[in-house]
Amino acid sequence: MTDSIKEPLVNPADIAVAVVGLGLMGCSITTCLLMAGHPVIAVAPIPGDMLTACPRIREHLKKSFEEGLTDKTPEDLLKRLHITENYEDISHCTLVIECTIEDISIKKTVYAKIEAVVSNQTVITSNTSAIPISILQRETGVPERFLGLHWAEPSHTTRFLEIICGDLSGATHAEWLYQLSHNWNKEPTLVRKDIRGFITNRLMYAMYREAFYLVENGFATIEDIDRACRNNPGYWMTLVGVFRWMDLTGVPAYHTVMKELFPTLNNEMEVPKLIDDIVKSGGKGIANAKGFYDYTPEEALMWRETFEEFGFEIRKLALKYPADVVQRKLEEKKKEEEL
Ligand SMILES: NC(=O)c1ccc[n+]([C@@H]2O[C@H](COP(=O)([O-])OP(=O)(O)OC[C@H]3O[C@@H](n4cnc5c(N)ncnc54)[C@H](O)[C@@H]3O)[C@@H](O)[C@H]2O)c1
Repeated sequence: MTDSIKEPLVNPADIAVAVVGLGLMGCSITTCLLMAGHPVIAVAPIPGDMLTACPRIREHLKKSFEEGLTDKTPEDLLKRLHITENYEDISHCTLVIECTIEDISIKKTVYAKIEAVVSNQTVITSNTSAIPISILQRETGVPERFLGLHWAEPSHTTRFLEIICGDLSGATHAEWLYQLSHNWNKEPTLVRKDIRGFITNRLMYAMYREAFYLVENGFATIEDIDRACRNNPGYWMTLVGVFRWMDLTGVPAYHTVMKELFPTLNNEMEVPKLIDDIVKSGGKGIANAKGFYDYTPEEALMWRETFEEFGFEIRKLALKYPADVVQRKLEEKKKEEEL
């Protein structure tokens, strides 16, 4: 599987998908699947979800319609959605996406309820952020049809998707998910061997650890580090990843710097005091206006809205420069030359 242009092989209308768990991510994943044309059965495992899920999904669909992500109205797309508390309603689904809270024992209970109603051919996936898939799949009756499907919030606008194979996952299921996800407007990454944190979280946490080290040891302020991130990696990362970046800017220089810099990078094992203090004093970030920065309630709301607005903008740029942008340009050039 490469970055080559993928044609959708299947008709999403023929593939019923179940989304189990209707919090933040369950709602945005449901939105993405509806826009891709799937019939979706969304299971609300806790009664509160029955009240909040539909208005949330409707709002996502409305914004997506206004932004041109779909030419179908929310009313049209909602006709394909069935929200239920009854697991029996997902018995015919070909794919299940579990998005319940990050707790192994709760997820295990949910898998038992899913497996009690679906066929052995149904592919079951988890949106877990950090629990190894090899551990989760051992909590199921048919581990080979179990894989990780790691989305990024807000799932209806982001292009990111990690498809993760656990030790016991079947390769054909991974291949099927990889192809299917092109219908969801994703640029998927396949994690061929399970590893804690998968790919992006491992990369990002290495950076978070270094950021804490620099602040806690007085090398730079939080504001300065955020500014550097925005204006250095933030400038190129939507076009290329770290390896293409080194190719673009000259590989030997990285080789030289690594020799000197790697031994000085932080490898602390403990959670940094800076984040520990915030969490112990109840700070949640934008959610309660208390994090690494302090916010007025109005500012916190405006950051949330700005992030959402930016999601639509950066998506346009990402679509303009897909991973195979140069391959596409070369193919176009070849066609022009043949005319
Ligand atoms: N929030 C993110 O940015 C993000 C990103 C990637 C992956 N994830 C992962 O996605 C999953 C869901 O995260 P979220 O942010 O949507 O969380 P959330 O708190 O918004 O929603 C959690 C949902 O879990 C379900 N739930 C709660 N208690 C339950 C119980 N006792 N039994 C069964 N179900 C219960 C409910 O449907 C609830 O709405 C987690 O595994 C999380 O790690 C989150």
